[in-house]
Amino acid sequence: MDEVVKSLKKIINESNKIVAFTGAGFSAESGISTFRGAGGLWSKYDPNIYANINVFLQDSTYYWNFFKDERYPVIKKAKPNPGHYALVKLEKSGKLYRVITQNIDGLHQEAGQTGVIELHGSTRKINCLSCGKVYSMDEAYKLLEKELPPKCSCGGNLKPGTILFGEPLPQDAVDMAKIASKNCDLFIVLGSSLVVFPAASMPRIAKKNGAKLVIINIDPTPFDEIADIVINGSTSKILSEVI
Ligand code: APR
Repeated sequence: MDEVVKSLKKIINESNKIVAFTGAGFSAESGISTFRGAGGLWSKYDPNIYANINVFLQDSTYYWNFFKDERYPVIKKAKPNPGHYALVKLEKSGKLYRVITQNIDGLHQEAGQTGVIELHGSTRKINCLSCGKVYSMDEAYKLLEKELPPKCSCGGNLKPGTILFGEPLPQDAVDMAKIASKNCDLFIVLGSSLVVFPAASMPRIAKKNGAKLVIINIDPTPFDEIADIVINGSTSKILSEVI
């Protein structure tokens, strides 16, 4: 085990209230594309068209084609990876306080994680904008096989449970994430480019409140300079090694 991973193991052993902050890189090893960088989803789908609330409210066919062709088939097939199970183990040890995730795939919960804060919503819940009825991902997919955009039984339009660009984040999730970031003694960033706000403000909140900051990400991030440890490597490989 190399020196930097040894020091990560030491910091985890010394910590009692750990927050794990996950991004698309954490689910990459479950077969779900990340957004940015080479081969990222946003290099194939323009987020200003396929993931923007104003476009969605005018013409939701862009989003629903993206859901039908890309999001649903990939997330439906995806399974939790060793990184997800390592965090469940850390939770069972009593050291993991909260998981704050930007991911909408629900894989943390599928691995058995509790106390997950979903800052960007979830693709596993789809809501009717008229009557509020909630559909599962599979039910919505069945509906859009009949018609696109899919309609609720009340005739209303359906909207994904994911937060689209231009849409405010769920306030309760933001509040809980801020509280967790303020009250942890170790904040671990796992697989995020840390360029999307307000989610990316959490590492700085944690650092400001005295927590140690660790970043495990293949590419450099804008927060590396304030981190105590930076490891440019695979989240599931390193977590499986230290936990
Ligand atoms: N292990 C560690 N890091 C990885 C791995 C891996 N196996 N695979 C990719 N990465 C890193 C990449 O280096 C990249 O910096 O994960 C990062 C993923 O960054 P983004 O694609 O920008 O994803 P994320 O930070 O989660 O994006 C934030 O932006 O598009 C919106 O709402 C969307 O929640 C998302 C938000």
